[in-house]
Amino acid sequence: MSSLKSLLVLASATAAKAAVASAVDYVIVGGGPAGYVVAEMLSQNPSVTVTLLEKGPDEINNTDVNIPGTLLPSANDAWAYYSQPDENLGGLAPNLLQGSMLGGGTGVNLMGYCRGAASVFDEWAEVSGNQGLAWNSLLENFKATSRWVAQEGLEYEQVVNTTVFGDGPIEVSQQSFLTGLEVPFAQVLQDELDLPQVCLEDGTGIGVDMSVQSISANRTRSYARNTYGAIMEGRSNVQVLPNSWVSSIGFEGTKAINVTYVDTVTNVTTIIPAGEIIVAGGAINSPKLLMQSGVGPADVLSGLDIPVVADIPEIGANLWDHHYSYILLEVTEDITTYYQTFLNATESAIAEEEYADNHSGPLSSVSGESFATARLPDSIFNSSHYPSLASDRPHVIYEYNGAPLSTEATYLSRSIVSGMTALVQPEASGYLTINSSDYTQAPLMFSNFYGSESDKTAILYAYKKLRELFANEALSEWIVSEAYPGANVTSDADIWSAIQESARSFHHPVGTVALGTVLDSEWRIKGLDNIRVVDSSAIPSLTTCHPQGVVYAVAHRAAQDIVKADGISKRRCVHS
Ligand SMILES: Cc1cc2nc3c(=O)[nH]c(=O)nc-3n(C[C@H](O)[C@H](O)[C@H](O)COP(=O)(O)OP(=O)(O)OC[C@H]3O[C@@H](n4cnc5c(N)ncnc54)[C@H](O)[C@@H]3O)c2cc1C
Ligand SMILES: *[C@@H]1O[C@H](CO)[C@@H](O)[C@H](O)[C@H]1NC(C)=O
Ligand SMILES: *[C@@H]1O[C@H](CO)[C@@H](O)[C@H](O)[C@H]1NC(C)=O
Ligand SMILES: *[C@@H]1O[C@H](CO)[C@@H](O)[C@H](O)[C@H]1NC(C)=O
Ligand SMILES: *[C@@H]1O[C@H](CO)[C@@H](O)[C@H](O)[C@H]1NC(C)=O
Ligand SMILES: *[C@@H]1O[C@H](CO)[C@@H](O)[C@H](O)[C@H]1NC(C)=O
Ligand SMILES: *[C@@H]1O[C@H](CO)[C@@H](O)[C@H](O)[C@H]1NC(C)=O
Ligand SMILES: *[C@@H]1O[C@H](CO)[C@@H](O)[C@H](O)[C@H]1NC(C)=O
Ligand SMILES: *[C@@H]1O[C@H](CO)[C@@H](O)[C@H](O)[C@H]1NC(C)=O
Ligand SMILES: *[C@@H]1O[C@H](CO)[C@@H](O)[C@H](O)[C@H]1NC(C)=O
Ligand SMILES: *[C@@H]1O[C@H](CO)[C@@H](O)[C@H](O)[C@H]1NC(C)=O
Repeated sequence: MSSLKSLLVLASATAAKAAVASAVDYVIVGGGPAGYVVAEMLSQNPSVTVTLLEKGPDEINNTDVNIPGTLLPSANDAWAYYSQPDENLGGLAPNLLQGSMLGGGTGVNLMGYCRGAASVFDEWAEVSGNQGLAWNSLLENFKATSRWVAQEGLEYEQVVNTTVFGDGPIEVSQQSFLTGLEVPFAQVLQDELDLPQVCLEDGTGIGVDMSVQSISANRTRSYARNTYGAIMEGRSNVQVLPNSWVSSIGFEGTKAINVTYVDTVTNVTTIIPAGEIIVAGGAINSPKLLMQSGVGPADVLSGLDIPVVADIPEIGANLWDHHYSYILLEVTEDITTYYQTFLNATESAIAEEEYADNHSGPLSSVSGESFATARLPDSIFNSSHYPSLASDRPHVIYEYNGAPLSTEATYLSRSIVSGMTALVQPEASGYLTINSSDYTQAPLMFSNFYGSESDKTAILYAYKKLRELFANEALSEWIVSEAYPGANVTSDADIWSAIQESARSFHHPVGTVALGTVLDSEWRIKGLDNIRVVDSSAIPSLTTCHPQGVVYAVAHRAAQDIVKADGISKRRCVHS
């Protein structure tokens, strides 16, 4: 990669604080999975110049990022976002953190890899007018971005349809280490919910599955930085700049012409003129950047003295997210728990040695999961969207998670594991807006979890069912007691309080700069020129399970569309 400094030409006249870099064909804002895939595909053409700007650092050598079993991201690698207090949750303000590093969310996430119900993608094709998003077309992009890697010597059965993986960069595999409750819980789910074991990556929406994860054969995180980033290394037409925080996009009339970014290490401000700008900051930061650059609801922008480039009320309006509530179970010593492994110096030394020597043991997988995607009975709803959802769509996930989902000390000093149930096709969305023109200020997010009468009905039913599933006789040999909310919590009112108190974001936000409403079928912001949005914010509605695999595939499709639309041989702008 050529060094940016060699390209810098100091702005002449004003002895300005901002340096001006040479123009490039494409500036991509945000180095998450979407930004990386688009950068890699556009830069395959050596005559096209691409600059990828990422606010966070390069963590390529950070073992906390690379080793699956290590837990939460450091403050340096995340946007510490919280919702405003959510009335539905009795004033709780859910943590909405986002990844901030080369790789974005794929560097901090829990590596669950899933695709879910095919009808979701067919719906996107319909609302966007982009037929490439239909399941049968997008399957090619899923294959082009992922690769199945088999694990040796596993002691459990899992249904995997390997035909839906290709030879793409992201390595996907099974759990190599089980905490102990995964298989028995999967069996309870099959028996009690009358569901088969399925592969949730082949278009199937409903069934029971063990965890599938974006982890390499050697049990290290497989993410945008160490896959797509590695492919681009050595290409002289692409620059990837970490620690580069884009503060605004510049417009001439309705045409996007440049981006301004601040180097977070040196504080130097630089402007890059660009033939086209592709916004890929994720579902919370893309709408925020657009609004702070004058693209969004005019009333909000005017109120903050931001000159209005385009009045687009839908930007930020639909913050869709999977959200869940949990229970905690105290388990016997036969189950490998966070408490046993990570809070016991002897055991954690053994785990580290095992990982170092053999790439196995508790550190080789994420906490341990098995889950069902399931429908709720139509009869519990009066009039709502739930019964009318396409028949391949689940309403909820019921999941076993080997980590304690509470960080309260009382639950960390014992052998505790978790159960969780999530709404995966909620009726209500939240929204986000801004109350400052200063790019360093967080947007205001309103989670609106369990935000409709039917969403409340759904979670109340599902939470009771979750408790019942874990109370099943078949698990009694391992489960000592329900530590939270506890046996004394039985009335609907008390259960609802526990649901509110334990409500969390699954960190799967989408929909805030959606195809169909804000974007046309070719990823352009309607009414503006030379600016596209390609990332989770462009995704118009929620998938039925974990979205990262979908973000890679959607970005791959978008890059194909862009190459086709812009013409592969056309230089987009004159280089200065
Ligand atoms: C804690 C957590 C756990 C998750 N767990 C899972 C999981 O297990 N399985 C799963 O499938 N999905 C999971 N996800 C979701 C998944 O990671 C996201 O859906 C995915 O990363 C979204 O990709 P994206 O490219 O749209 O945005 P992001 O991954 O958010 O990337 C956007 C990037 O843009 C950068 N950026 C934003 N604004 C600017 C700016 N102004 N200037 C410069 N750079 C900017 C950000 O720093 C970030 O690196 C999780 C997410 C989180 C946060
Ligand atoms: C990572 O380590 C390699 C090998 O030591 C080194 O060349 C590279 O500069 C390091 N990268 C970062 C971002 O630290
Ligand atoms: C595997 O997935 C493909 C694509 O969805 C499907 O056509 C095929 O029937 C699946 N195979 C099995 C055995 O389920
Ligand atoms: C693990 O495998 C990946 C992908 O093949 C490779 O890039 C990486 O260097 C390997 N890491 C280690 C520690 O062996
Ligand atoms: C960047 O765009 C702004 C318009 O918002 C314009 O005023 C400025 O001159 C541009 N700067 C460069 C260096 O292109
Ligand atoms: C950059 O700016 C921040 C905030 O104003 C300041 O704390 C920091 O010292 C500056 N760093 C440099 C290298 O100037
Ligand atoms: C820590 O683990 C060791 C080895 O397994 C065990 O002997 C010891 O009792 C554990 N300590 C605690 C406090 O549980
Ligand atoms: C690594 O694997 C070998 C062979 O299975 C085993 O004998 C050894 O004990 C393992 N090492 C550790 C540290 O667990
Ligand atoms: C924006 O809202 C946040 C959260 O309520 C508050 O802390 C902050 O002071 C507000 N900023 C402005 C400029 O009003
Ligand atoms: C269904 O109707 C009953 C009686 O009118 C009402 O109490 C309940 O809240 C409604 N439920 C939903 C999900 O709308
Ligand atoms: C149930 O018992 C726990 C622990 O004693 C207590 O904190 C909680 O308030 C009780 N909840 C109800 C609804 O009685």
